[in-house]
Amino acid sequence: MVGQWREEDDEEVVIRCYDDRRDRSEMECVEKSCEIGHDQTSLFTDTLGDPICRIRNTPLFTMLVAEVGNKLVGSIQGSVKPVEFDDKSVKVGYVLGLRVVPPYRRRGIGSTLVRKLEEWFVTHNADYAYMATQKDNEASLGLFVGTLGYVVFRNPAILVNPVNPYRSLKLPSDIGIRKLKVKEAVSWYRKHVASTADFFPGDINRILRNKLSIGTWVANYNNDDNIRSWAILSVWDSSKVFKLRVGKAPLSYMLLTKVCNFLGRFLTFIGLTALPDLFTPFGFYFLYGVHAEGPLRGKLVKALCEHVHNMAASNDGGACKLVVVEVDGESNVHDDSLMRCVPHWKMLSCEDDTWCIKPLKCTEKMTSFSEITKVSSRSLFVDPRDV
Ligand SMILES: CC(C)(COP(=O)(O)OP(=O)(O)OC[C@H]1O[C@@H](n2cnc3c(N)ncnc32)[C@H](O)[C@@H]1OP(=O)(O)O)[C@@H](O)C(=O)NCCC(=O)NCCS
Repeated sequence: MVGQWREEDDEEVVIRCYDDRRDRSEMECVEKSCEIGHDQTSLFTDTLGDPICRIRNTPLFTMLVAEVGNKLVGSIQGSVKPVEFDDKSVKVGYVLGLRVVPPYRRRGIGSTLVRKLEEWFVTHNADYAYMATQKDNEASLGLFVGTLGYVVFRNPAILVNPVNPYRSLKLPSDIGIRKLKVKEAVSWYRKHVASTADFFPGDINRILRNKLSIGTWVANYNNDDNIRSWAILSVWDSSKVFKLRVGKAPLSYMLLTKVCNFLGRFLTFIGLTALPDLFTPFGFYFLYGVHAEGPLRGKLVKALCEHVHNMAASNDGGACKLVVVEVDGESNVHDDSLMRCVPHWKMLSCEDDTWCIKPLKCTEKMTSFSEITKVSSRSLFVDPRDV
């Protein structure tokens, strides 16, 4: 697959499929040279030697690379899956892992990679392409929204809670938490969540059966005879797929981390959670399918999150340093209440994740641009395979 010819330096940019045997080690260099973040903070992804680890769990995926001479200078990944969107069953292509190494930026390589991936989506019958980035990633938004015609359609919040390996949180005695069998979880989600959540995956059973999905839990009040309030969530162990590491952080955060490391268990002794050391590679538990109903649902969601915190604290010798959940923020009344009851640290969270979408076809079942960007009353199902 040939990309574009750059006249200015006579170097041909070739876009081709990723070849695991040939490209694996060079891809790691591309990833390392592309820190994501802004002036004050940056984040590195350690793919644990497998550059396609983030998309392997979706049924249909691809990775493209951009090559100049014999050198890899960029990459992009994508996956296609069936979802419910705006009350319709459609296919969506998810764009992720777009990288161009710094010396080759602003030469059209990033946009060529996205266009080639969109072509691949179309050949696999995708109705829409979508991607997520941070509000302050000017390059990414400039490329997708400015150049390629995507529109911003959701601004969910990524809520992050540190795991304190020395501390088990005490759960309220009036709440019962039960682990569901996969079959039960599938039918629970299909019955209660599918019709109210955008991007609800058509292959939810495949997600719940994946070995990274470590379980689904439901919480109820022990004495709620009418079962009017309940909450559900599932847990995905991202640490088995990739690790993250903070490269650059504000001085205040670095100093606080050092102080917390120094004080160690003493903080727990006085009932405080230490700031986790995020400068060494860490994994996280991702909570998905978080949904709650009933007048007293807030406390149930909080209890489920604390239950997961305790699991993370006792499992894997502290490999998971964070519990992360993404919920639709201000735009959604239902999820706004979730936002308030999911325990999180503001300084670690990001309240402005930016989801962008673009229709790839023009058919009757497609929602128009103006409808897409309207504030939705539906919640958002964040597929853990997209994280
Ligand atoms: C985002 C990224 C892939 C862009 O790659 P690129 O090859 O430089 O992009 P292009 O040359 O195709 O840029 C196309 C358009 O996007 C916009 N754009 C690209 N970089 C920009 C920047 N730093 N600031 C503002 N707009 C930018 C411009 O409109 C540009 O058109 P122009 O050069 O004619 O003005 C690259 O900056 C990168 O790897 N960043 C780090 C990783 C990252 O943030 N990935 C995105 C995750 S979603």
